[in-house]
This record gives sequence, structure tokens and C-alpha cells, in this order.
Amino acid sequence: MKADPYDIFARVYDAWQAGYPKPFSRAILPFYEQELIRRVVPEHSLVDLACGTGTFIEAWANRHDDWLLFGADQSKGMLRVARKNLKRASVSARLVCQPLQELCLPRPVGAAVCVFDSLNHLTRLRDLRRSFRAIARSLLPEGLFIFDINDERAFPRIFSGSWTVESAGLFVSIVASCREDGVRGSLRYTVFERRRRTWSRSDFSIVERNWLRGEVEEALGLAGFSIIRVRRIQPYSHSEIEAPRTLWTCRLRHDRQDRTSNPLDP
Ligand SMILES: C[S@@+](CC[C@H](N)C(=O)[O-])C[C@H]1O[C@@H](n2cnc3c(N)ncnc32)[C@H](O)[C@@H]1O
Repeated sequence: MKADPYDIFARVYDAWQAGYPKPFSRAILPFYEQELIRRVVPEHSLVDLACGTGTFIEAWANRHDDWLLFGADQSKGMLRVARKNLKRASVSARLVCQPLQELCLPRPVGAAVCVFDSLNHLTRLRDLRRSFRAIARSLLPEGLFIFDINDERAFPRIFSGSWTVESAGLFVSIVASCREDGVRGSLRYTVFERRRRTWSRSDFSIVERNWLRGEVEEALGLAGFSIIRVRRIQPYSHSEIEAPRTLWTCRLRHDRQDRTSNPLDP
């Protein structure tokens, strides 16, 4: 089986994020919060899908301490760091190691979020459809599903060129490229990390897919979601970083909820 690049990335992920004005999930949190607070949620319970090192969960718990929290990610390495981070912050959340396509929570929740273009990491349409169906099964009737994906028009620009990110004891070079058809982009990371007196190097690549609006709409509809709002946002201010993306807010249609194939259901 191919190694998961995030198992390598996990060791330096938070330090890499510290090289930006704010970790991405903190920068985008107000946009998610606005959606989650202004709309009716069937219950104050939330799963952070592809939760990474738990930054969003920690920030959410600090601002809304009455919510029951879950996190899911397919990378054992990312979850190991998330467990440490949440323990250190005294945040209680149940974390499960599951790919989005096979999501099966211990119980359904009122809201699901998927932050930082994690859905762009699915590169096949059938995986996007399977993931949306699994997410639908993990929600309570009329539950909310909110996610951000890379902006479709900006994708070829986001996946081009090279840049570096530096923070204490870390130097990261990123070379981005996009296939000619603009459907898939790849980010090649070279990481130099200072450990005691020596520097160690690691290399890995992450591939993302440029999901077209029609593909996402169709997959959401098939899974039983109604789309409430789609809007372009800039999580960082213009003087910081340009990272345009699309924020989708959806609700599980009451009539379309199919929980019969969730093996954990009674
Ligand atoms: C860009 S990181 C975002 C992490 C976190 N949401 C954040 O805001 O920092 C993408 C995350 O998606 C996870 N991921 C990628 N493909 C996945 C899949 N098919 N199922 C579950 N998690 C996945 C990776 O392990 C990684 O933690």
C-alpha cells in the first residue's frame, strides 16, 4: 500500500502552519461559525472531517464548550498529533481513524465540517460520491454539512509556481504544478527540520482535484443534501495571503436520510 503523505507531514504540520499569519483552520473559523450559529442545528454535536492535528476542534471547543465533538481522519500520524494537542488543551473529543469514504461514527451528529480543501484530496468522482453518502449517514435528520474547497477558477493559479515557508527550526519548499487539463494539481514538499543540532530532510507530494461546481452539486444531491448557500471567501485578509475558496453550506434532506447501511445503527 502507498504511504500516506500526511503520516510524514504530521510531524511538522503545526510548525508549517505556524509559518503563516494564522493556522488556516483558525483563519477560516469565523466563516464556519457564522453558518453554524445562524442556522438551526438539530443538536450541538459536530464532527470535524479530515480533522488533521485537531486545530479546528480545539478552537471550536474553546468558543462553544457545550458541543459534543468528534474528529475523523485517515492519517494515523495526524490523529496522533491531534490527540496530544487536544489533551494538552484539555479538550474532550472522540477521534476516529477513518477515510471519508468509509466514515462511520459511533453516533450521528448535528453538524459535519470539512476544513482546508480536504475534499479536494479525493481525486475520483466515485470517492466524492461515497464520501457524501457516508457523511449523510453520519448526520441526524436535517443535519448541517459545511465544507470549503479550492476555488474552481483559481485552482490552476493556486497549483502553479513555488514558494517557501519558514518557522522556528523548519524550512519548507513547495513546488506546485497542474496538469494541462486543470483537473489535478500536485504539491511537492521538501521539508528541512532541525532536530537538536542536525537538519533532516523529508519529501512527499500531495495531489488534489479541482472539483467543478456541477460535480459537487450532483454528488450532494445523490447523497440527499440540499444546498443552502455557496459563496467565494478569502479566509486571510488581502495583505496576508490570497487563498480563495468556495464555502458550501448544505442540509441533509429529511426525506432522503438513509441510515440502513450504517453497520453501527441498531
Ligand atoms: C490540508 S489537511 C487539513 C487538516 C485540517 N482539516 C486542518 O484544517 O488543518 C488535509 C487532511 O485531510 C486528510 N485526508 C486526506 N484524504 C482523506 C480521506 N480520504 N479521508 C480522511 N481524511 C483524509 C489528511 O490526512 C489531512 O489531515
